[in-house]
Amino acid sequence: MDRWINKVAVVTGASSGIGETLVKALMKKNIKVVGLARRVENMEKIKNELKNEKCAFYPIKCDLSKEEDIINAFQWIENNFQTIDILVNNAGIMTENLCLESSTENLKKIVDVNLIGPTICTREAVRIIRSNNTVGHIINIDSILGQNVAFYNSSAFDMYSPSKFALKAMSQVIEFELEHIKNSTKITTIFPGLVNTDLPPQEALKIIPYLNTDDVCDAIIYVLSTPSHVQIKELLITPVL
Ligand SMILES: NC(=O)c1ccc[n+]([C@@H]2O[C@H](COP(=O)([O-])OP(=O)(O)OC[C@H]3O[C@@H](n4cnc5c(N)ncnc54)[C@H](OP(=O)(O)O)[C@@H]3O)[C@@H](O)[C@H]2O)c1
Repeated sequence: MDRWINKVAVVTGASSGIGETLVKALMKKNIKVVGLARRVENMEKIKNELKNEKCAFYPIKCDLSKEEDIINAFQWIENNFQTIDILVNNAGIMTENLCLESSTENLKKIVDVNLIGPTICTREAVRIIRSNNTVGHIINIDSILGQNVAFYNSSAFDMYSPSKFALKAMSQVIEFELEHIKNSTKITTIFPGLVNTDLPPQEALKIIPYLNTDDVCDAIIYVLSTPSHVQIKELLITPVL
């Protein structure tokens, strides 16, 4: 991990859950972290808790369903840090609606946050990495529901699985494109099973074994700590049943 000391990580969805735990884990490794999310007040609280760490936390209010917010955030990062070393596309949303009964607006919103937003963030991060002639690491937080569709309480979470299946394909497309442009930035897709956060149906956490946010963040730190010639393309993590 030492090669990341004082480098810059961008974590989307840094205001709660896995993202919040990851901000803390990265900062313990002396990495500067820029957090993107809508609830800037949550990120300010996290920033306050972390005020004694060596590296600072920089929260930016950003709605990932709005391209302008993403462009402005990455412009701010480029202006202030010049480059980006790590991007973790972690933000995501889930609903228990049925596709068959969902409004078009809701269907599009899930795809915007879970797929288009991460793709724009990746494009902007790689643009900055290339212009600095550096090499980074992109991590996409997918889901076990991006490998298999599952039903819970007669819902299969409308566009959640389709967006997460497509996120896996997005990682593979970017991997090919990075190779094509001869940039050795790594890309890793992580597929967690159920994690104890506000995202999944809360009753599910009472009856199904789950992971803690630390378990997912430990895996992210492991992936980042691999030597530069090692590429962990995918990692599936589930609780022991
Ligand atoms: N929990 C699980 O069981 C589980 C399992 C597998 C995969 N995952 C994945 O893990 C990732 C993190 O989820 P979590 O479990 O930690 O849930 P969470 O606590 O609800 O966190 C979701 C994060 O995404 C952000 N977000 C949502 N909509 C956004 C938007 N329009 N613009 C910017 N940020 C937005 C939220 O911030 P704001 O609301 O402040 O914007 C929040 O920080 C997601 O991609 C999820 O699909 C979770």
